[in-house]
Amino acid sequence: MKWALAGRLAAGLVLALAPAAFAAGHDIDCKDCHSVHNAKGAFIFSVQPFSGQTATGAAIKPDQIDALCLGCHNEETGIIPIDLKHSHPTGVQPGRIKVPDKLMRNGLFTCVGCHDPHPSNANYKYLIVDTNEGKDMGVFCAKCHPAQSDPDVLAKAEKASVTADPAQLSKPASAAPAPAAAPAATATAPAAADQKPVIKPAPKKQ
Ligand code: HEC
Ligand code: HEC
Ligand code: HEC
Ligand code: HEC
Repeated sequence: MKWALAGRLAAGLVLALAPAAFAAGHDIDCKDCHSVHNAKGAFIFSVQPFSGQTATGAAIKPDQIDALCLGCHNEETGIIPIDLKHSHPTGVQPGRIKVPDKLMRNGLFTCVGCHDPHPSNANYKYLIVDTNEGKDMGVFCAKCHPAQSDPDVLAKAEKASVTADPAQLSKPASAAPAPAAAPAATATAPAAADQKPVIKPAPKKQ
């Protein structure tokens, strides 16, 4: 896919130059995913929802967000296909893991529990947390898996904002922290050494 590669290169270049540039991939003009008068799914989605099975064999209902994402991210379209049989659980009702409420949709943990696919999200791979271009992935995992996380990483995760925070969304763009803060965002957290690790009172067994 030449265009995609060109897009990635271009975005990489712009990212390096301007804080206002965002990750390669999704349509900055919205229409690839939303259709104002000719919708095919929830959220006036313009893509035919995918129907298939989750890793546990449960049917993915077309009204689920996962089916919207998979409308493009499947083998047939060839746009970075995601095979749910070999993926982190998604489209599930969490049993053991406590997911922050704002990351749940209608009682389900879905793709948007981990990704905010909107062009406003400058994070690596549209993740809900800035991972310093994937170098600090533990900060992301710690948002939902505190019991498994390193205490210093957990302290960073508690400070890291989530893209879907209503408080973030309501801020005017100019007042929002500069997206170039990829490295800076981690820097705003005091160096681990200066800081008492925040250890949560006995996390629930997970
Ligand atoms: C890659 C696909 C994709 C693109 C591109 C996209 N959206 Fe969305 N949009 C979604 C999905 C999926 C949801 C449901 C998300 C959720 O519940 O978190 C959504 C939800 C929304 C909502 C409802 C939010 C809410 O809180 O109820 C609005 C408004 C919206 N999109 C506007 C836009 C605009 C404006 C653009 C272009 C700047 C855009 N979207 C681009 C996938 C996309
Ligand atoms: C309209 C089609 C379409 C839909 C729907 C869609 N995507 Fe994408 N997505 C793309 C394209 C195109 C790319 C870029 C592919 C490439 O670079 O090769 C992409 C790339 C991505 C990437 C990688 C970004 C990067 O920086 O490398 C992620 C993560 C992603 N999508 C997640 C999602 C999630 C989650 C949803 C549902 C909320 C979704 N996508 C829905 C078309 C779509
Ligand atoms: C538990 C969190 C989580 C969930 C749930 C999740 N993802 Fe991801 N996804 C990630 C992470 C982390 C990465 C980045 C992996 C990396 O680059 O190391 C990623 C990467 C991707 C990519 C880019 C892969 C690439 O090779 O560039 C796509 C596309 C994507 N996810 C789509 C989806 C879709 C569609 C769903 C729902 C069906 C989904 N994700 C659910 C965490 C998640
Ligand atoms: C936004 C929340 C969230 C994030 C972020 C997240 N997870 Fe999860 N994780 C879950 C949920 C929900 C489950 C399902 C467990 C359950 O049913 O309670 C899960 C399950 C798992 C499991 C068990 C899988 C199985 O088949 O039993 C592993 C391993 C895991 N996650 C690793 C990770 C790693 C590694 C990361 C970071 C790259 C990550 N998770 C990020 C929410 C999350």
